[in-house]
Amino acid sequence: MISLNKFKKFLSAFVLILILAFVEIATNCQIALADTATNPATAAEVFSANCAGCHINGSNIIRRGKNLKQKALKKYGMDSIANISNLVTNGKGIMPAYKDRLSEQQIIDVSAYVLSQAETDWK
Ligand code: HEC
Repeated sequence: MISLNKFKKFLSAFVLILILAFVEIATNCQIALADTATNPATAAEVFSANCAGCHINGSNIIRRGKNLKQKALKKYGMDSIANISNLVTNGKGIMPAYKDRLSEQQIIDVSAYVLSQAETDWK
């Protein structure tokens, strides 16, 4: 049998741990909120989360010719932010539409990112 005194000590230690855990969670949340407010996900992050699965390093693992290198973008008329944004918004063939997943601004930013990466050949 544990004494009532031991039980009380145990209980107060337990409550203390709970409070500490709660404070920890609360501060972490605040940090997370502050992060999203001050640094929105960059275009590079949007690309790696949404596009790199098929377009790693500017390639196209499904339709090899339709990659994101400058030559292909020019050939298929995808060498402008407007045209890439339109494709990303609405999708085409196997490529999914992103209008429900990304904001208009994210789509424009990721399109600009594709063009700028193409300029340096994704290096
Ligand atoms: C499931 C695979 C997949 C994902 C994910 C994907 N794409 Fe594509 N992408 C394709 C395919 C397939 C094509 C070729 C479409 C066609 O013309 O039939 C393509 C074509 C393109 C083209 C035109 C390339 C050219 O040379 O004409 C661009 C630009 C592009 N994607 C950008 C993106 C961006 C930016 C994202 C992320 C927001 C993305 N893609 C996500 C599969 C994908």
